[in-house]
Amino acid sequence: MSAIPQISLGDGRKIPVVAYGFGTANLGKDSTDATVLALSQGYRNLDGAEYYANDVSIGLGLERAKIPREEIFYSTKCCSQDPRAALHKALKALKLECVDLYLLHSPLFFPDIGVSRAWEICEELQQEGLCKSIGVSNFRIKDLQALLKTAKVKPAINQFELHPYLYKQEAPLVDYCKRNGIIIATFGSLTPLTAAKDGPLDDTLHKVAGETGYTPGQVLLKWTFQVTGGVVVTTSAKAARLQEQLVPFISMPDLTQYQIDAIVQNSRSRHYRGFFPHMDE
Ligand SMILES: NC(=O)c1ccc[n+]([C@@H]2O[C@H](COP(=O)([O-])OP(=O)(O)OC[C@H]3O[C@@H](n4cnc5c(N)ncnc54)[C@H](OP(=O)(O)O)[C@@H]3O)[C@@H](O)[C@H]2O)c1
Repeated sequence: MSAIPQISLGDGRKIPVVAYGFGTANLGKDSTDATVLALSQGYRNLDGAEYYANDVSIGLGLERAKIPREEIFYSTKCCSQDPRAALHKALKALKLECVDLYLLHSPLFFPDIGVSRAWEICEELQQEGLCKSIGVSNFRIKDLQALLKTAKVKPAINQFELHPYLYKQEAPLVDYCKRNGIIIATFGSLTPLTAAKDGPLDDTLHKVAGETGYTPGQVLLKWTFQVTGGVVVTTSAKAARLQEQLVPFISMPDLTQYQIDAIVQNSRSRHYRGFFPHMDE
């Protein structure tokens, strides 16, 4: 299998363009086998979180898979009021000395200390070498603007939900992140086939799949990648699907601009958000 391409973060570090996520289907579950499966299928970018409550099992999976640490890009996210304590706890559970990326999971998760102080702690943790890069998740333009007023380090990444049924809403955020050198990481790419299936995009999606010879899922992953130029976080419990989901990032030719635009146009009549309703405010 060819290697997964990487892109550069604003801080100069590199990140593989597709990640395997430990949320949704793995949430709160023993993820030992899932970790071994994802790594055996070639995934080297792993997306965990304090909220997913499965770090100990992921640590066991990392141990069992025996992939050299330097080959793995490991991210985790903080959802509690104390980013320092949360990272120390995660590192202990994962049996890692540092993570590659530490994200504030949502701007709404820090009502006591405030986002600005939470970010300052992330900056300190980066200085101390406990996380190599730092970033945010589910931040709107206004949240990023507020953060950038006090931040010494610009977030390397903003991770948020994106698929065609959210593009109308999130196009300005995509544009803002690109203009400000914040790499976009997205989740929920497959939503038009899963939580929001049987929608107005179906005909176009199947038409583009037929034109390209790839599956509707691969078309959605490729669309997301081309629209953002960033990292796509996905997941599956099945080896065959994990293989299918790598293809758009390794060997699938680009969608044409006409196909990208057709997907946007034929999704406009539907708005669907699976996570973090504050993103619509
Ligand atoms: N930062 C955040 O706030 C946040 C929020 C949500 C998620 N995430 C991250 O993103 C990761 C991905 O989650 P997601 O919810 O965005 O998942 P997704 O990539 O939209 O979809 C993955 C799910 O779709 C199913 N699937 C895959 N291919 C399919 C196909 N062709 N047809 C129908 N179903 C298919 C998989 O089930 P099978 O196992 O059956 O293949 C899997 O459960 C999470 O694990 C998490 O790491 C982050």
